[in-house]
Amino acid sequence: MIFESHAHYDDPAFDEDREELLGSMREHGIEYIINVAASLATTESTIALTEQYPFIYGAAGVHPDDTKELNEERFAWLREQCAREKIVAVGEIGLDYYWDSTPREVQKKWFVRQLELAKETGLPVIIHSREAAQETFELIREHHAGTTGGVIHCFSYAREMAEAYVKLGYFIGVGGVVTFKNGRKLKETVEAVPLSSILLETDCPYLSPVPNRGKRNSSRNLPYIAQEIAKIKGISAEEVVEATCRNAKKLFLEGRAAYGSDIGQSEKYD
Ligand code: NI
Repeated sequence: MIFESHAHYDDPAFDEDREELLGSMREHGIEYIINVAASLATTESTIALTEQYPFIYGAAGVHPDDTKELNEERFAWLREQCAREKIVAVGEIGLDYYWDSTPREVQKKWFVRQLELAKETGLPVIIHSREAAQETFELIREHHAGTTGGVIHCFSYAREMAEAYVKLGYFIGVGGVVTFKNGRKLKETVEAVPLSSILLETDCPYLSPVPNRGKRNSSRNLPYIAQEIAKIKGISAEEVVEATCRNAKKLFLEGRAAYGSDIGQSEKYD
């Protein structure tokens, strides 16, 4: 069964058929889904989805573009959400120098705070990084490496950077871009990185793989991504599905238990 490690089913793109679509996941081989927040509002809508669907787990966090909405009071609220049983990661967090819609110093400050939050609550991180390769890596190495682990989502940098993250124990999130004709860089990364360090993701509703490129994406497209990884690695798609599912279970579902956390333990079964 497939483990979808990065989706946004609270996005308005799914308003018309969300229930029907999510209700069809099992018959399409999707066993688990991590719905990933990008703001305080989507942290709330992510929690709502985790309450409605047994197979959906959530990540709570604020995307670099939205870090300007954070202050101490809101951050304290975010911290409380991390104690929920079905919140299994802090994300998506990081740096985005492509859009640059929030001052870089503000992005960096709240990125570090959220890395610390992950350690404190025993949760792995889901990293978003765009055109900020070196600084993202330095902050992770300095403030998070060797603790709760995580995934570099929608990996878009050079192979060498992926290898450096793998050395630090992080996973590489591989999505629809790997099927694109111009996805050569990601194909090289997939070739270089061991299967034991790869997670499957869609980032839906965005980044639909070939042959559905340009259309609304959903986790039902994950087999196309698994097939492409299998082709690159010269193994079966089945092996890719099984290994990535094992990897994601280890990171997200056994993560807090393995690392331990005061707030996770004391407030888990309230
Ligand atoms: Ni995303």
